[in-house]
Amino acid sequence: MNTPTADRFAWQGHYDQRMAAAWERDGYLVLDGFVSPEDVARMRARADSLIEDFDIEAHRVVFSAKGQSHAASDYFMKSAANISFFLEEEAVDEDGRLLKDKGRAINKIGHALHDLDPVFADISHNADFEALSRGIGMADPLLLQSMVICKQPYIGGEVNTHQDSTFIYTEPETCTGFWLALEDATIENGCMWAAPGGHKAGLRQRFVRDGDGMNMITLEEGALPECTTPLPARAGTLVLLHGRLPHLSAPNRSASSRYAYAVHYVDGTARYAAENWLQRPDDMPLKGF
Ligand code: FE2
Repeated sequence: MNTPTADRFAWQGHYDQRMAAAWERDGYLVLDGFVSPEDVARMRARADSLIEDFDIEAHRVVFSAKGQSHAASDYFMKSAANISFFLEEEAVDEDGRLLKDKGRAINKIGHALHDLDPVFADISHNADFEALSRGIGMADPLLLQSMVICKQPYIGGEVNTHQDSTFIYTEPETCTGFWLALEDATIENGCMWAAPGGHKAGLRQRFVRDGDGMNMITLEEGALPECTTPLPARAGTLVLLHGRLPHLSAPNRSASSRYAYAVHYVDGTARYAAENWLQRPDDMPLKGF
């Protein structure tokens, strides 16, 4: 059986009718050349320097298997409003000691780079992001969370099929993922896969606060539509993902990393759920354009 291929568009600074038709039909958009090679290079270099400056030893309890639970969950919750580092599962032993070179151990960096880091903040708020978010109909596009996803060579972990609205729920649902390739993402190094049209399926689960921890609750039984279509992306390509679109990424067993920068938006006109894991402190309101 042939693998389906996704429609792609060359980004020229504005959202058009053909993009609107594909977005409505598929629940995703692949926009080549969304960010310039210069901006990709700035973000890639910045990610490296953030990792270089990160002191893993100071956070060992967070990353040890024994330290799971409270320290890890507290560290995760606080990442809503800072720049935190998360490690690949296969990069540490059970005491939280590194088994890999630090530059190859980080799984992701998040979740407020778009507000706190000058390079990521600058690019995240540029005119292209504004044009696209308004083009798809957001009245008050707000940048909620951001992350650099590293997908390291050989040990880059997989992300199973999910809908982003499970984790970022608003009423009405407005969560939208802006996923930008900082390196070429291929089938070999773990590119995104999606279920075309799967955004028309119901929301299956919600990840909700439960005391100090989190709980997954089922809203609708049944498997999500299968992610049949790979979304390979050259560096600088943006993949836009509807909050209900089933998507996944495979593990990276190849020799090359697959860096990406993802920002999730919500519309300020929708009600943001108090049960979502990500709650920003009052003195750090969300920003738009
Ligand atoms: Fe996702």
